[in-house]
Amino acid sequence: MTDNTSIKPLFEPFDSKNLSLQNRTVMAPMTRGFSPDNIPGEDVAAYYRRRAENDVGLIVTEGTGINHPSSVSGSGIPVFHGEKALNGWANVVKEVHEAGGKIAPQLWHVGMTRQAGDLPNEDAKPVGPSGLTLDGEKVNEPMTETEITDMVETYAQAAADAKRLGFDGIEIHGAHGYLIDQFLWAKTNHRTDRYGGDVAGRTRFAVEIVEACRREVGPDFPIIFRFSQWKMNDFKAAIAATPEELDSILQPLVEAGVDIFHCSTRRFWEPEFEGSDLNLAGWTKKLSGKPVISVGSVGLDGEFTSGTGANTTSLDGLIGKLENDEFDLVAVGRSLLMDPAWAAKIRDGRADELKPFSKEALSTLY
Ligand SMILES: Cc1cc2nc3c(=O)[nH]c(=O)nc-3n(C[C@H](O)[C@H](O)[C@H](O)COP(=O)(O)O)c2cc1C
Repeated sequence: MTDNTSIKPLFEPFDSKNLSLQNRTVMAPMTRGFSPDNIPGEDVAAYYRRRAENDVGLIVTEGTGINHPSSVSGSGIPVFHGEKALNGWANVVKEVHEAGGKIAPQLWHVGMTRQAGDLPNEDAKPVGPSGLTLDGEKVNEPMTETEITDMVETYAQAAADAKRLGFDGIEIHGAHGYLIDQFLWAKTNHRTDRYGGDVAGRTRFAVEIVEACRREVGPDFPIIFRFSQWKMNDFKAAIAATPEELDSILQPLVEAGVDIFHCSTRRFWEPEFEGSDLNLAGWTKKLSGKPVISVGSVGLDGEFTSGTGANTTSLDGLIGKLENDEFDLVAVGRSLLMDPAWAAKIRDGRADELKPFSKEALSTLY
């Protein structure tokens, strides 16, 4: 197990153009389903506060639904609109700030992954670039340009609300096969208008969302953009087959106003493209020149999509990559779901107190 001198790079402060953090640890966004009627309550606020009290540098909340009828699936998923839900989020911010932490909401629309009849709006149809599910089945018409424009403004409204509520930034969920990623991915985007066709066209929806959010929040409010190659139903999927294609996605997003990229992989140590050891975050940093967050099985011996538990492992490989500046920040999912004190224990060399991840933890807000 890693000793507490070698983990020092993880606890160096992070300073960027508009975001400073006490250390390099980030709580990864994790849907928990503990928000009855889609409103985050006191227990959710206390859950995030416990992470802030225990040295997490930046908390990214679970995905929270923007103001569109089909943005989420399920009545326990928090939304980011309406007085009650936004008051709930204001309380989350207050608790986290009182404990000295920083927090960004993850703005989410599930797109075509929504099933017919899902709560909270049973009649709301799933929407997406081409009306296709992730498996390619046509279940709705493609979004019209007007619907796309309205959706962009819905993200912008959420960004404005995040700033007004006192959040320290926003994360736009462009990963894992949800709405924005359905535009980025050729399999779910068959459009021939300016929102499809080639990599630039497929990236346009994401770019317009970032531009609209930036317009609302001004230059000094951090915008994080999360993306992935893999999809929930296809771990081998890719939106960029080469570094050149990745660059074509990243450059317009940088110009639109992304400050930090959050590069979602299931295993942080895996090289992304042949001929280099760099992972997806490493490539993204190299190509975009922006700070990046890496993620995926940090401190655990099994990836989160396995659906099973996982044992704790050494952080040595991770620290080496951090020291080499391959990435700037490290997001941790399940270890922080299981144990609010994970970061403090790592910092203090209390490796013997780390807890393995058990899937039963999913049903409790530790
Ligand atoms: C219970 C659970 C819920 C998740 N929900 C989200 C989510 O809402 N948004 C998102 O971008 N990723 C989500 N993820 C993925 C995590 O953010 C993270 O990328 C993944 O768990 C890998 O990190 P880990 O190996 O440290 O757990 C979720 C993961 C878990 C375990």
